[in-house]
Amino acid sequence: MTRTDHAARIESLLGAMTLDEKIGQLNMLTADLAVTGPGMPADYMAELKKGRLGSMLNLFGAPLMRQVQKAAVEETRLGIPLFFGFDVVHGHRTVFPIPLAEAGAFDPALWEKTARIAAVEAAADGLTLTFAPMLDVSRDPRWGRISESAGEDPWLTARLAEAKVRGFQGADLAAADAVAATAKHFAGYGAVMAGREYAQVDVSERTFHEVYLPPFRAAVGAGTAAIMPAFNDLAGIPLTAHRGLLRDLLRQRWGFEGVLISDYNAIAELIAHGVAADLVEAAALALKAGVDIDMMATAYTCGLPAALERGLVAMADIDACVRRVLALKAALGLFDDPYRMKAPAMTPERMAEHRAVAREAARRSIVLLQNRNDRLPVAAPPPRVAVLGPLADVADEMLGPWSGAGRGEEMVSYAAGLRAAWPASRIDVAKGVEAEGGDAGGIAPALDLARAADLVVLCLGELRFMSGEAGSRAKPGLPGLQPELARAVLDLGKPAVVLLSSGRPLMAPWLFERAEAVLACWYLGSEAGHAVADVVTGRWNPSARLAVTWPVDAGQIPIFYARLPTGRPLDPAFRYSSKYLDMPNEPLFPFGHGLSYTRFAYSNLRVSPATLRAGGALAIEVDVANAGAMAGEETVLLFVRDPVASVSRPVLELKGVAKAFLRPGETRTVRLSLACDALAVLDGALAPRLEPGTIEIFVGPAARADALLEAAVAIAA
Ligand code: BGC
Repeated sequence: MTRTDHAARIESLLGAMTLDEKIGQLNMLTADLAVTGPGMPADYMAELKKGRLGSMLNLFGAPLMRQVQKAAVEETRLGIPLFFGFDVVHGHRTVFPIPLAEAGAFDPALWEKTARIAAVEAAADGLTLTFAPMLDVSRDPRWGRISESAGEDPWLTARLAEAKVRGFQGADLAAADAVAATAKHFAGYGAVMAGREYAQVDVSERTFHEVYLPPFRAAVGAGTAAIMPAFNDLAGIPLTAHRGLLRDLLRQRWGFEGVLISDYNAIAELIAHGVAADLVEAAALALKAGVDIDMMATAYTCGLPAALERGLVAMADIDACVRRVLALKAALGLFDDPYRMKAPAMTPERMAEHRAVAREAARRSIVLLQNRNDRLPVAAPPPRVAVLGPLADVADEMLGPWSGAGRGEEMVSYAAGLRAAWPASRIDVAKGVEAEGGDAGGIAPALDLARAADLVVLCLGELRFMSGEAGSRAKPGLPGLQPELARAVLDLGKPAVVLLSSGRPLMAPWLFERAEAVLACWYLGSEAGHAVADVVTGRWNPSARLAVTWPVDAGQIPIFYARLPTGRPLDPAFRYSSKYLDMPNEPLFPFGHGLSYTRFAYSNLRVSPATLRAGGALAIEVDVANAGAMAGEETVLLFVRDPVASVSRPVLELKGVAKAFLRPGETRTVRLSLACDALAVLDGALAPRLEPGTIEIFVGPAARADALLEAAVAIAA
């Protein structure tokens, strides 16, 4: 069907609809008990048959969904199909690493591949839309949802946005294996004050435009079908009712034509925000801002008829939303194939292929944070291994905070992965302590195992629900008695490797003083244990990098590499310089940090031309050598700095990434390109403007001044 045919069908449906049926299309309910918000059980089948339901969430499984769809198609007056949304955040049945971990692969091809697989599995399960990708830049590890994000950098998050939208939606939304993407949470949610979930947001307009908006702009450019406004307010205006951002910026300036889906119960929460007196006002505010779909608040069904009577909204406002919802259904091909009968079956062979990608994604997401004395890799199987700690052998913890349709029993625990890698070794497992709580009784027996072992693998960290939504922590360190266990084990002086699981950087500087080798394992998903074993044994040379700065202490938060220079830079000898009296300024590990089992050396940075003009591009070349003994992949980061501009610019800004796979002794020239327009600065009216002058170019492995090569280019007047 063509776009024109769709438009004609939509107009004729709209003409035939009662007010109730129109509002019904804007109503999204869950079939289940609420999982992510206050429960508002509704008899969805009764609502559906009355034509008062347009879409559903948190329901999956093709047979069940076909049954519900049948009721929509055959038992409602107009037979309009539903669409089904679900949080497919980092995989569906096959679970991939959490986004913060996968971002560390710095690899759009991988990001797209895992989203494609997630879409195929979700579509096979009857789903037509995912509430992903999550694009909230976050610079605050206290906020639990940093785990769902791509970390602190707007450029990196924007590239992830494009890759994920492409992967979820494929080439054609109407294909039976495509799902509509929902870029969320628009916008600024990552800046909740003091990292506390659902708290207020108050960032400058410049920071909002430079840091928080670019990933959404990229998602719109990539054709995201939907966007979800965030729960939070921005300087007093809740995003769910933010006309300036939803209508004027998103729709008018950016040309976004897709649907806006409220967050869970967010329209009703406008009352708690203190901007609406009742559901009627709340519904009117959201509708007027252009929110098309009300997720779970029943504000539209309960409030819009009265809002219409009171003159708070017009029928044309409602019609505009209904048109967009029907257009999405048409684009998804639901009018032609409501049951998506052509969705591919998930055969065992296919699922095995997906798991192979899960293993690849997982090992590409493990960051080797520290490796003193080349403790890793452990190439020869140790005769006896003690796998200790609360996360040693708990498969379902590998799921991470948003598990989709993943099943705990299908995940591979760390101990299981090590057993598979070293079948002839004796592998003893003990928790020692629970992840939380104060029972030290298990420490002594764990120490006995450690004493008898040739290698200790210490599995520490957070349980999966200690991050994610509503997982804010004011002190994001190692919880419970884990520090006691870790100190006791590491003090034995045995060869030891620490596997750290978390949804955020964990602040435990003492751990890095005592442990020789530490791997950031985040939550790696289905193949966690195998991927960790690949890295521990050296079958995979770790290549992932931190997509977020790793602080020494929560007192440094917010801490990120792209800070503005201060007028009084740190001078340890001068009291009146920018510093703490009780803590270093620098983080424990900078953005981009991540070691390898080999060593890469950078040389000979060249940039051309020497002068750039608008519309032009800079060619950047650098020689990268593998100066160690093992083959490996290096991630080359390109940063810029504008040293003199009309406004103070960040000390470093990421603008490009390239990869080089190098054998020992091999040297390669790595090429990057930088569009001149990417160097524009937002002027006083927040419009991009190229300013003539020098731009400094930095290339290297991480946002660490001493690791970067430097060159310069001029921007012509
Ligand atoms: C979250 C969203 C999610 C929605 C539906 C909300 O609580 O903020 O990210 O998509 O629930 O599960």
